[in-house]
Formats: sequence, C-alpha cells, structure tokens
Amino acid sequence: MKILIKNGIVVNPQNNHEGQYDIRIEDERITEIGENLSEKDDDQVIDATNLFIAPGFIDLHVHLREPGFSEKETIYTGTRACAKGGYTRVVCMPNTKPALDTPAVIESLMDLCKKDAVITVVPTGAITKSIAGDVLTAHDQLFESGVCALSDDGRTTMNVDYMHAAFKSSKLADKLVMTHSEDHEITERLSDEIYPTQAESNIVKRDIEICAAENGRLHVSHVSSIDAIEAIRAAKAKGIQVTCEAAPHHFALSEDSVDMQNTMSKVNPPIRSEKDRIAIVKALVDGTIDVIATDHAPHELESKLRPYASASFGISGIETAFSVSYTALVKSGEISLLKLIELLSYRPAQIGKFKEVGAVEVGYFADLVLLDLNAEQVIDSSTFISKGKNTPLNGMHTYGAVAMTLHHGNVVYKR
Ligand code: DOR
Ligand code: ZN
Repeated sequence: MKILIKNGIVVNPQNNHEGQYDIRIEDERITEIGENLSEKDDDQVIDATNLFIAPGFIDLHVHLREPGFSEKETIYTGTRACAKGGYTRVVCMPNTKPALDTPAVIESLMDLCKKDAVITVVPTGAITKSIAGDVLTAHDQLFESGVCALSDDGRTTMNVDYMHAAFKSSKLADKLVMTHSEDHEITERLSDEIYPTQAESNIVKRDIEICAAENGRLHVSHVSSIDAIEAIRAAKAKGIQVTCEAAPHHFALSEDSVDMQNTMSKVNPPIRSEKDRIAIVKALVDGTIDVIATDHAPHELESKLRPYASASFGISGIETAFSVSYTALVKSGEISLLKLIELLSYRPAQIGKFKEVGAVEVGYFADLVLLDLNAEQVIDSSTFISKGKNTPLNGMHTYGAVAMTLHHGNVVYKR
C-alpha cells in the first residue's frame, strides 16, 4: 500500500516544528516527508488541504472491558471508537473478568486483538490477583507476556509491601507502575458522598515515597486534586521518577459546571472543585502533568440509570477527548496546538517507552491523525461508536474534530 498525503500542516512535537509538508507512506511506515512530493502511479493520494497532521494519539489509560464485560465494550467496538478519537495506540487497564493477572489471560487478549483491533492495544498487568489486593501476581511472567506496566486500576493496592514488590519487579523489567490513588480506609466509610481529595493525595504521597525508596518509575493515573499535584511537583523537583496524567473531564468540568447528582458525572476520582480544575490546567501548562489520558470507562446505560449509590463509576471519553481538550486548552488560550499534541502523542510514547511512534518522522510507523480545527459540533453520545454512551458532556459545544486516522499506513477512521 502506497499513500501520499498532500498539503497538510504537519505538527511535530519531537522537533517542535509546524509546517506544510507532504508525507509518503509505504506499507506500514513513513518513507518521506517533504515539500511538493511528486505523485507516483500507484499512490493513493489523500488531500489534507486545511487539515493539520499529528502523530496518532496514545492513551495511557483506557478500559476496553474484554474479557468479561462485553456488554460495556469489546475490543472490536472499543478500538474503532479509539480510531474515531484519533488514537492509534492505547494502554488497557486490567480490571476485566478474569483480570489481566496471568500470562494466559494476556495471551488470549492479544489473540483477540489480532482478530478484532484496528489499532495497537498494549495491556497492563495486575499487581495483585483479581485486583483484590490479597495475593501478588507473577510480575516477571506478566512482563514477559508483554504488559507495559503493572497496575491495580479501579482499586488501590493498600498493602505497602506489595507496592514495594511492584516497584522492584517493574524496575527489573525497566517498566512502570501505574497507580489508581484512592485511600480505601477513607472511601470505604463513605456511601454516596463524593470522596475527599485527601483520599487521593494520601496515596500519591505514599507511592512517591515507595517509588523513591525503590528508585523505580511511577505514573500516577487520573490526577484530580491540588494536593496530589503539589506532591507530584515537589517529587519531580527532587528528581524522583514520577509522571502523571489528567483526564479531559477533570480539566473541562468542575462541580460548578455539572450536575453532580446525575450519575453520568459519577466517576472515580470524582469531578472536583473549580479550584482543582484550574490547578490541573496550570499543571498541564507548566509540565507537572505530563500527558492527557482519557480513563475511557464505558458502561451499559442500565448500570448508570440507577440510584446514585449503586450506579457505576466512569465516563466514556475516547471519542470526545480531542475536541474537549482542544476547546478547553487551546481555544481558551492556555496552550498551543503543538503543546496539545505533545500531551496526546509525544509524551505518552516517551513514558510508555514505545518505539517509532509518537512523532512524524521518516522510518516511524505511519500512525497519524488528520485534524480539522475549523469543525464545530455539539456532543451527542448517541453517535458514539463505543458501546458506552455514558458521558456528562452531552450538549457541550466543542471545536476541532478528527477528520481521519491512519494506523500502520491503513485508514482506520474517516469522518
Ligand atoms: O470511574 C472509574 N471507572 N474509575 C476507575 O478507576 C475505574 C473505571 C471503570 O473501570 O469503570
Ligand atoms: Zn483508575
């Protein structure tokens, strides 16, 4: 397959450069980037006039739900939803059924991805069996089977010794520990109250200490509060290897702008105060927060349309991530388009140590997203490809849209 993308404006965070170039793709890779490249006979030409071309987005935190919860999402629907969102690689969380806690489960998931996925899926492995916190998994075997990180996402590993073990084995494999920070000693006493920011910051501080003691690498998932951000900022200043992510719903929404009683806004960690939201935006601007990750958490409507206390946590966010981020951060004047692409593609590739992706470079995989910044739309989850229609963002007017997504040289989404 030979493709020539013509007349687009390439946005490349790797060299901090934005300019009009044509891109030639042969098979899976970018083979030439230049001005006015000439068309060859068998080229399929894509006209990118008025479009921006960025490295395909990489999401370090999604829930694709297989195995076990195919009523919420499948690899088939989830990866197509990712492609529509401009994503070409996603890291999927282990809170499935069974959990991603043995090489056999990882292998069968990878087999399913070979069959059904249209983009690259990289699994995480559970720190403890069934994410229950009681028994450690075989971390070395999980790394051998291809997980990029250990995580008990959805539940915090409360056992401190187990966290030390996770950092030790991740360090041996030169991989990450990703953490869902929620002090269950605080949250288990609550029923339908929004849990306090201290439940997050307690665990963030604990894990920074353990990471420093083990000289490991910590990636804090979905940071939502001022105290957690301050702890991460201080740890970075000390040279501790900690990175973190923020989700669009945490920097685009606050308690002041959503109906907190509506179960569509029920998510873990919760949507926070306007002060927390502003702190997240500031931390994205100054680099304390390294990446945007969606925490795409699709649920069937039945599990959301319940009394608040028994409704599921989570927001289906992969298809709205770019336009919401572009509207909240770039249109509002907080950051440049180049910085947004760094948060969505380049930094996630660095943190995951993913090779030959995350930049528009000759020799790299042709994982690209074409963006129409003149588009405007009103979010309507009935149009989602994802099985999860659960979002508090319905009705929000947003700017910018994904026009096309290419994965390894194949067009996997076209508006
Ligand atoms: O809101 C959330 N939903 N937070 C999590 O940590 C897990 C996720 C899910 O799996 O639905
Ligand atoms: Zn989580």
